[in-house]
Formats: sequence, C-alpha cells, structure tokens
Amino acid sequence: MKKNKNYVDLKDQPVPEGQHLLEVDDLKMYFHTEDGVVRAVDGVSYTLDRGETLGVVGESGSGKSVTAMTIMGLISMPPGKIEGGDVRYRGRSILHMTEEEMQHIRGNDIAMIFQDPMTSLNPVYKIGKQVGEGLRLHRGYSKQEALKRATELLDLVGIPEPEKRVNEYPHQFSGGMRQRVMIAMALACDPDILIADEPTTALDVTIQAQIIELMQEMQEKNGNAIIMITHDLGVVADMADKIMVMYAGRPVEFGTAEEIFYESRHPYTWGLIRSIPEQAIDEKKPLTPIHGNPPSLMNLPEGCVFSPRCPYATDKCRKQRPERVVTESGHYSACHYSGDPEFLKNAPETSRTRKDSKKGGEA
Ligand SMILES: Nc1ncnc2c1ncn2[C@@H]1O[C@H](COP(=O)(O)OP(=O)(O)OP(=O)(O)O)[C@@H](O)[C@H]1O
Ligand SMILES: [Mg+2]
Repeated sequence: MKKNKNYVDLKDQPVPEGQHLLEVDDLKMYFHTEDGVVRAVDGVSYTLDRGETLGVVGESGSGKSVTAMTIMGLISMPPGKIEGGDVRYRGRSILHMTEEEMQHIRGNDIAMIFQDPMTSLNPVYKIGKQVGEGLRLHRGYSKQEALKRATELLDLVGIPEPEKRVNEYPHQFSGGMRQRVMIAMALACDPDILIADEPTTALDVTIQAQIIELMQEMQEKNGNAIIMITHDLGVVADMADKIMVMYAGRPVEFGTAEEIFYESRHPYTWGLIRSIPEQAIDEKKPLTPIHGNPPSLMNLPEGCVFSPRCPYATDKCRKQRPERVVTESGHYSACHYSGDPEFLKNAPETSRTRKDSKKGGEA
C-alpha cells in the first residue's frame, strides 16, 4: 500500500513491552464556560489491546462522546482544557501532540465514526471525494486511485451501485446509507483503532445488526481494536471484550464483559442491566427504569455522584466520594460497598440467571 514517505505511521511501530495499544490514564478534560466549569471527562481510565472491543456505556450526557473527542484531539481548547491524566497510543503520549502530529494520527491510526453523520460529511463535496480523502492525505493515492478505492469501500459497506453513488452528494443518501458512508470513510486507511460513536442508533434493527457484523468482519481481518460507544448495554453485550460504564463524566465501573454482566459491583450498572428490554422479556420481568435524571456536570452532588438516584445510598454515600475498588483482574467499581459480599447480593437476578443459562447453553 502506498504511503506518505515523509512520515512513519505510528501504527507500524511496536507496542512497547508491558504496555497496551491504547492506555487512557485518569484523563480529565473540563469545559470552562461563562456559567461555570463542566466536568465532562473526570478521571477516565482504561486499556485496550489489538483485536479487542471496548464498549463505553452510559446515559445521555455522561461524557461518552467528549471522552472520545478528547482522545482524538478534537475538542476546542478553550473552552476545553486538559486538567490531568494522559493518553498513550503505542507507548506515545498523544494528548499534547501538535495539531500537525494529530492530523497524521486521525483517520490513519485512530479513526472515528461520528454520532451525527451530517456534521462530518461536507454537503458540497461528492461522496467519493470524501471517502477517498484520507487515502490521498495519508497514503499518497492519486485522485483516480482514491476514487477507485472509495468505490470499493462503498461496495464493501453494502451501498448498492457504488460506481454511481461515488458521484452523488450527502443529501442524496438516506440516514442509513450516510452511516455506511461514515463507516467506509473510517475504514479507508485500515485504522489501528476504530471509535464508533452510536453508529447504529438512528438505524432500524436489521441494518444495525449488519453494520455491527461488518465492523466485526473488518476487525477479524485487520486485527484492529474497536471502541463502541452506546447508551444501550444490550448493544455491546455480544461484541465487547471490555466494558466501561460512565456516569456524569466518570467511569463508575470497568471490567471484562463477563465481569460487567455477571459480577457487576455498581448499582448504576445494575440499573442499566435491569433496563435491557431483551432481558426483561426473557425473564418475564418488568423493565425497571433508573429513576430520576443525571446531575448537571456543572453542579455535581456531594459524595457519590450517583447517590441521589441510588436506591442503596447511605449517609456515607451522600458525603464521601467513593474511591475505586479494584480487583486483581483490573475490574474496578467506584462504590463504597463494592467490596461487601452482602451488598453484592443486590445485583440483578437476571444477570445471574443469564450466566447460568449461558453456561448451560455452552455445555
Ligand atoms: N463545547 C461544550 N461546552 C460545554 N459543555 C459541553 C460542550 N460539549 C459538550 N458539553 C457537555 O459535556 C457533557 C458530556 O457530553 P457528551 O456529548 O460527551 O455526552 P454523551 O455521553 O455522548 O451523550 P449522548 O448519549 O447524548 O451522545 C454534556 O453535559 C454536554 O452538555
Ligand atoms: Mg454522544
């Protein structure tokens, strides 16, 4: 494959011994607005290796998109400001790289499918040009080569008549087709890490499944890592290796998918598990929504940020911010009672039943 001769791709560099492909380490990014400080990313930590999928789950406004955009260097500073922590990609800190350095990384090493396709597709350029742009920029493709590859990519993501469609404009595509264009764009340069921000929310269920399958096929072929952002724990149940649950700008729980579904330790995660519709049907149990609303990130409650909505909250929770309780495997939970076996008996029945039925199914 052609490459820009002046630049060594970071994705071709080895991951240093003992490190991970991506390490997000206590990342903090706040917005300083006229009304006050918005703590949008407040101590996010996780690691990701090649071939792995991380699910990032949480309600609207919990900081999922802003965390991804901070990693990609796409937050305007000001009003944004990095308040602490680090992001290491293949052992290199990318948090304070220059815009020029980040331009080499974006799209090439780390690519993102944005939540709203229309904000990232330019209405005045033809689809073929936009899909091929990364190849021109990062790989030194000629116009014709880029257009040819863009046509192949549209075909790959299941867009009919790609030869014709490359010459059309974004407004001529339906929502689902635009989403596929975004995926084609993100996959163009074989990124090492693909960040997909709610890539299927606007789509109907069959297309959702196709798109997830497509991303998984690409991952099997290329060995890339995926960060899948969603408000729906059900979406990542089958595809994620690791899951980070976010609440009010902070990770409240992080672990392997098994740990999150079957050994969850945080009441907020329990609430999310109880509100997966599919499970409610399986178990013939009513859907239990989490009561109340997330707090304003400008005005966080004292103590545990989830305490106003937590059915188990005590005085300690309302006064004292919980530290993370980390197990040997790296599973962490930010709840005062995460280490208390009696407390953990409150975990949803459904998750335990599900574990049993899954084991039974595999036997
Ligand atoms: N430029 C900005 N200035 C101030 N606050 C901002 C800015 N951009 C985002 N925010 C705030 O950051 C918080 C996190 O937003 P974010 O978009 O990451 O949420 P999300 O988890 O992706 O939600 P959704 O599920 O709705 O996509 C929100 O409270 C949002 O209002
Ligand atoms: Mg979002």
